[in-house]
Parts: sequence; structure tokens; C-alpha cells
Amino acid sequence: MKTAVLGFGTVGAGIHEILQKAEGLESGPVWVRRGKADEAWKTDDFDRILADDSVGAVAEAIGGTDPAFGLAKRVLESGRHFVTANKMLVAEYGPELQKIADGSGAAFLFSAACGGGVPLLHNLALARKGDEILRVSGILNGTTNYMLDRMQNRGMDYGEALKQAQALGYAEADPSADVSGLDALRKIRLAAAVAFGILPDGCLHEGIENVSAEDIRFYQSKGLVLRLIAKAARTEEGVSAYVEPVLFGRNAPEAAVSLNNNLAVYEGRFCGRIGLSGQGAGRYPTASAVIRDLESILSGARRMLPEKTVREAADNGSETHRYLLRVSKKFRDLFPDTEPSGEPAADGSLRLMTGPLPVSRMHALANEIREKGGRIAFAAAEE
Ligand code: HSE
Repeated sequence: MKTAVLGFGTVGAGIHEILQKAEGLESGPVWVRRGKADEAWKTDDFDRILADDSVGAVAEAIGGTDPAFGLAKRVLESGRHFVTANKMLVAEYGPELQKIADGSGAAFLFSAACGGGVPLLHNLALARKGDEILRVSGILNGTTNYMLDRMQNRGMDYGEALKQAQALGYAEADPSADVSGLDALRKIRLAAAVAFGILPDGCLHEGIENVSAEDIRFYQSKGLVLRLIAKAARTEEGVSAYVEPVLFGRNAPEAAVSLNNNLAVYEGRFCGRIGLSGQGAGRYPTASAVIRDLESILSGARRMLPEKTVREAADNGSETHRYLLRVSKKFRDLFPDTEPSGEPAADGSLRLMTGPLPVSRMHALANEIREKGGRIAFAAAEE
């Protein structure tokens, strides 16, 4: 199957390279921005790709939604298979693109958009057919895991750890999507869509921007390791989906995930808990997931989203956690059901452990405190 590639950045170049050797696949033209077509096999004319009847599939690695969405629509309308590594595109327009694919009979797969080389979506798409997926969670952002690991194990401060993650090419062009948890949220929304047929909207994300080196030392003194965790689960009301820092005991599998690695865990009614770990970002791991999707198409796969996938507001009020807080003293009264947990921080903020709090309540309280100029960092205590 001759495959054109859209984009020749880190991932696009990796796809083009692996296509030269992959069984059953053939590399087609590579679409690049105007004026960048400096080789015969590159083109800046998208119409040339659509006019080429020998091209059977298109792999997209441009990123963002513009022009990716417009090009994706045209690929699928033409009946060609479309595979993408673009989490923003699928989180924004997945169900819409699926509808076009259904109309033309083309395949629409996006395994590389969540977890890089880790085959989470691929496995979920298969597992949900004969099982009932109950929950999906994990470390889905390599940048923040790298930063937390370096802060914990090398004593780096936040700024230095972020700079290194950027230099190593893990971070997004705008790293605020990484550190705010938004990137991990996009990925868990895709996992929820594949696992449950619900693309949750209005989800919550707390990143690591408020975590200080002093917090990390404090957690370590209690034998705890901080990780940024994305979670989605079936609830009585629908589907929960959120990202927040979580504290684990030193022996938990999450605590052992180092550097920019990812760890994805899903739980099915029949299969129980399954963990998948590996490289969640980078040229070859991500490109390998795109190639895996193309190979799946050769074996007959056509979709990852369940039929009738819908968008629905997330239900983040049903799940509760206990949270370890560092909060400005004057907001103490917002947390009546808490116990002190250690000495106050250097700036006088209190360290408190809450009783069980709904996720939506915890995130709303943190927003309220910040809007009023107060400081808060929170992390869920893993039960
Ligand atoms: N910035 C992302 C990460 C890249 O750090 O995980 C892979 O999606």
C-alpha cells in the first residue's frame, strides 16, 4: 500500500524512513510546506497526492488542526485510508473525521496520537470488543515525567528540568501544554473515546506548574513519589476524565517509570489490569505506531472509534480522592475535613491531608484560591 506522508518534521521523517523497509508498504510522496520541497519525492502541492491513484493511504504528522483538519477531510472523502499521530486533531475532530471515513469506506486510525510507541489505543480498540473496559489511566506525558524524575533523582529545579526536556525534544513547541497537563488530557480523552465510545468534554487538568523542589523533597521524606497521571473511567453518570498529580509509594510501578517513559494501564471486566510501558514520544517510537496502524489496515482494520461514538460532558464529581495540599494559611477554612501533614512549607503555607473529596470539588477549590491570589499545590494520595 503506497503511503503518502504529510509533514516532514521529527515524526514525519521517521515514518518516511520506516516506510522504506516495512512489509506490504511502499513510501509515497511527502507533503511539505510551500517552498520546502527540496527533493523529487517531496511536494508542496497537496492536489498532486490526491491526483495520484497509486496512493492508497496518507499518514499525517503535521500537528495542530490547521491545515491538518482540512487535509484529513479531503483524504478521507477521497476514500483513502488516513492514519495520524496528531492528538490535537483527533481530540478536536475525531468523531467528525470518523463520520467521513464511514461514508467513504476509508480507514481512520490514530494509535500514535496517545502514548507514542506504547500500543494503548491499539489494544483498547481490540479489547473493548470482547470485554468491558472499566478504566484507563497512566503516565501519558513524557516531558513532565522526565521533569519529575530529574527533580526527584537529580535535585534539579523546575526551570532546569524543563529546559533539559525541551533540549531533548520531548516537549511540545509550546511546553505549557505539557506542564499544565493539557497534553496528557488530550491523550486520555482519546483513550476514553476508544474504550467507552464517549469523547469526554469539559475535563479537568492540573499539571506540575505549581510543584516546587521543596514539595518534592517533602514527599520524598514521606517515602512518596509524585507522578502526573491521566485517568478516565466509567462512572454511574457517564465517563470521568481528568489529569492531576498523584503520590505513589516507592514500590508502586508508577514510581519506577523513569525519564520520558510512559506507563498506560487499563482494566477490563474480564482481562483485569493490563500495563503497557515504553517510549511515549520521539521520532521512531511514534513513527513505529503509525506504521503499526498501516499494517493493521493491511490486515483489515478500519476504525478505532466505536460506532456511534458521542461527545459528552465528563462526570468528574463521582470519583473521590484524598489530597495532600500545600495551601496558603488564609484559605485553611475552605478545607474543614483535613489533618495537618508535616511542618508548614518555607513560605508559611500549610501542608494538609484532606478526607475524600470529589475530583471536581478539589479542582474547583484550587481555581478559587488562585483566583483570589492564594497559592495551592495538590496531589492525590493513591489508595
Ligand atoms: N510532548 C509530548 C510528551 C510528546 O512529552 O509526551 C508526545 O506526545
